[in-house]
Amino acid sequence: MNFILGIGGGISAYKSLWLIRLLKKQQHQVKVVLTQSALEFVTPVSVHALSEYPAYTDLWNPPQDNHTKADAQEHNMHHISLAKWADFIIIVPATANRISLLAQGECQDLLSNIILASKAPLAIAPAMNVTMWNNPATQDNINTLKKRSIEIWGPDSGLQACGDVGQGRLLEPEEIMQKIQHWIRPIEPSFKHLIITAGATQEPLDPVRYISNHSSGKMGIAIAKIAYQCGIQVTLIHAPIEQNLLQELPSEIKKIAITTAEQMLQQTQTEITKARKQNNPIEVFIGCAAVADYRPTNYNQNKIKKTNDNLLTLQLTENPDIIQSIASNKKDKLPFCAGFALESEELINNAQKKLKNKKLDLIFANPVESMNAEKSTITALWNSQNQVKQQEIPHNDKEQNAIHILELISQRYKELQK
Ligand code: C5P
Repeated sequence: MNFILGIGGGISAYKSLWLIRLLKKQQHQVKVVLTQSALEFVTPVSVHALSEYPAYTDLWNPPQDNHTKADAQEHNMHHISLAKWADFIIIVPATANRISLLAQGECQDLLSNIILASKAPLAIAPAMNVTMWNNPATQDNINTLKKRSIEIWGPDSGLQACGDVGQGRLLEPEEIMQKIQHWIRPIEPSFKHLIITAGATQEPLDPVRYISNHSSGKMGIAIAKIAYQCGIQVTLIHAPIEQNLLQELPSEIKKIAITTAEQMLQQTQTEITKARKQNNPIEVFIGCAAVADYRPTNYNQNKIKKTNDNLLTLQLTENPDIIQSIASNKKDKLPFCAGFALESEELINNAQKKLKNKKLDLIFANPVESMNAEKSTITALWNSQNQVKQQEIPHNDKEQNAIHILELISQRYKELQK
């Protein structure tokens, strides 16, 4: 997507430089417009280096931009070419002055001209001193912007650069990035309520040991994150997952931490029943967890000691199949059940068997090499008119895969609800 990032002249302007990095990391194009006062805080050189486009600072003197022909053609009207180029416009930080200019529809500088000339959605992240923020003039302006459906992100509360304490701090770039992802919605889903399981369950043997597998939970985290960005209400029931992966998720996602397969099943059932009672049924269940097929039959209260004959025999009991159990206990065709099949041999054959045996609506087959990998190839399989249909999901990073996965689930869900 093409973003125009307008940087206003506030002390927090330095944080916008990090936001450029975050936007670029998500494969977006970013052209930066610096207001006159922003030039006091950040330099065009930093902006150029990070965004890979020259900084735009002046209504009359556009920088040489070799990337876009339109700019060269409309050399003296670059506010128009920039306005047309943008899919989204964000102002970070938005000062009290900028907010006032926006509210009045003023067009005295390049940024305000672009905004008036563009049909792109606009979002602002205000930052200013607490008293300036609370001033009725600013609050009136903010209300005006809200009425025009302009997104307002923050400001946060806390210690301010001026030493005052209160509302007016710029949101952290990571939080702004989350808001952006939510705002630009990668897909328009056909369902609104989702439970997803993720991570590798741990089946304890004794107080220090457990049986588990190598799954990182990254795929489940990516799906939960993208689903939330698409406006879906998400509950994530997860086995132990690295803390920094969980921290990527917004607080609006309900997270339930469990350890074993039995706990995962119980929590999933509880959430589904609760949602039914509240007339807000779980429409889709995605079993993304790497559930241990077996658990130790007996848990040793004390640490198991070495044996004398170099041999230790463990007795294992089969765990319940969570997704199969959910798929066998649907009510009014809900929830739609999508599972995963990780296979080291006969990938498609085995995935087909699981699709049938577990009574799934959709299964995503991935080879064992995808475990813990940043990129993986996935094949989707489902039944349609007594035939198994198959579709390759392009080899991509997990967030891109998550978009394709949710798109397919959304399509299949819609068809099956007809
Ligand atoms: O049988 P297998 O473990 O390969 O099946 C994988 C799919 O089934 C995944 O979607 C996984 O989350 C789900 N599963 C489950 N409960 C189990 C085992 C697997 O829900 N006990």
